[in-house]
Amino acid sequence: MNALRRLAIVLVLLPWGLVQASATSPGQAALATAHPMATAAGREVLEAGGNAFDAAVAITAALAVVEPYSSGLGGGGFYLLHDAASGRDVMLDARERAPGQATRDMYLDDEGNPQPDRSVDGALAAGIPGIPAALDHLAADYGALPLTTTLDPAIRAAREGFEVTEMYRRLAGFREAVLAADPGSRSIFLDGGKLPAIGHVIRQPDLAETLERIAIEGRDGFYQGELAGRLVDGVRKAGGIWCRSDLAGYRVVEREPIISRFRGFEVVSAAPPSSGGVAIAQILNTYGALARRAGELDDLSVLGLHYRVEAMRRAYRDRAEYLGDPDYVDIPIERLTSDDYAAGLAVGISPTDATPSSSLAPVVTEPEGPHTTHFSVMDADGNYVAATLSINYPFGAGVTVPGTGVLLNDEMDDFSQKPGVPNVYGLVGAEANAVQPGKRPLSSMSPAFVRSDDLVGVLGTPGGSRIITMVLGGVLAATRGEPVDDWVTGPRIHHQYLPDRIEVEPGLLSDEQRAELELMGHRIEVNDGFGNMQAVAWWRGDGRLEAASDPRGEGRAAVFAPEAP
Ligand code: GLY
Repeated sequence: MNALRRLAIVLVLLPWGLVQASATSPGQAALATAHPMATAAGREVLEAGGNAFDAAVAITAALAVVEPYSSGLGGGGFYLLHDAASGRDVMLDARERAPGQATRDMYLDDEGNPQPDRSVDGALAAGIPGIPAALDHLAADYGALPLTTTLDPAIRAAREGFEVTEMYRRLAGFREAVLAADPGSRSIFLDGGKLPAIGHVIRQPDLAETLERIAIEGRDGFYQGELAGRLVDGVRKAGGIWCRSDLAGYRVVEREPIISRFRGFEVVSAAPPSSGGVAIAQILNTYGALARRAGELDDLSVLGLHYRVEAMRRAYRDRAEYLGDPDYVDIPIERLTSDDYAAGLAVGISPTDATPSSSLAPVVTEPEGPHTTHFSVMDADGNYVAATLSINYPFGAGVTVPGTGVLLNDEMDDFSQKPGVPNVYGLVGAEANAVQPGKRPLSSMSPAFVRSDDLVGVLGTPGGSRIITMVLGGVLAATRGEPVDDWVTGPRIHHQYLPDRIEVEPGLLSDEQRAELELMGHRIEVNDGFGNMQAVAWWRGDGRLEAASDPRGEGRAAVFAPEAP
């Protein structure tokens, strides 16, 4: 333990009143992931002297093995990093890219109608993966340990296997036909072509070898050489369009996160090609303007919920119109995240009536894949990572490339399939998110930090288009000073402009509140359990460190003092 950290802990442990000081580092580590084996992998690496970035490598790789329905080496994601030494926040963009042979109309039939299956099932749905490059980048630029150490828990898990759980069965059941149709996926993820029983052990020796290659050769072990050849051959034989140059040319990008301010807190989240940070900033700014107008506003009152929904409605409309890959389109980020813009939106929001989405300028909103994963980790020195990773639909495209163990993503489905053309409702498809070679599809993944003098919160969740509003709910709970358990368990509320309805979890609204909202013109749908939030909170004032894993999922949180290795 370094001297500075020891001093920080001593100051915090001394009786309040004798010394009052905020800790400069937590002195302990905390993490929360969606699977106990991923939490154990992160913990093992932190115990071995790794930092939060090494733990992020270990957790990413472990999740790729034990949550094949959520993320993987064949997928992508966004990592929000905080480096304690420099105080710098960075977003690591490891989003998939469209292959070089991708075309704007590749998912339309001869009559120009979208063929949704082609962008969801099979190799044509797969973008060029970003996760292997992210592992290499995290280790080389931020980690303290070599990939041979940090990938070891995942390699063991791939070789020794993991047990099928209830969630595995539910999601494999959802994709059973697609998995059964692909020989590679069928032999790994099913049992004799059928849904495996709970407790059945899934072993992935090919994936263990691929991880070993990355451990030894870094990014080149995946994007160049023999493995790249196997990936391209396998994808093309399965009907896809990958080329060796697509793999060789893949790069992660470091981007400035989006930062907004709300109730004296700083909220840091993902920049485009995620829509998360911009939408969260826009919602918070609009809601903040409405709260000031109301004088005092309880987030969970009818007026608070109505205002939150109206702010969401407008942010999701703008998301559909303006957001895409910033390397390909100009996005008016400054305008969308400005207080002036939010103040203008707030003027159009009535305190008593819902705004029909049909009365706002029409834009098509695209449905998004529901599956993804999130983890949050903080080390004893105060480095932290929030990472949301995806292969889009459960088990991605359902194709496992022979001899690699790599399950392909179907992230191409996150592009607009038919941009610029009004549909039968007169809604115009989002040009900013049209398919283009090399482009990254728009995402909702929103890893986030929420900070004040007293708090460092690290949070995120899977959940497709609902990710943004769930993270927003966690941020609001944090700003109310609630413990981290409440951020992840609190009942959720969501509106995304179209379809024009509020989705709520049971327990959020009383019968009277529901009736009042309906009277304002809101349509309400009660849905069971969405999301799987993983969060860490370090309360700097009293030095408390907390971690929580969403009870809707099967994850695990841990707070512990790593022993010096
Ligand atoms: N595929 C889910 C997302 O990127 O938001």
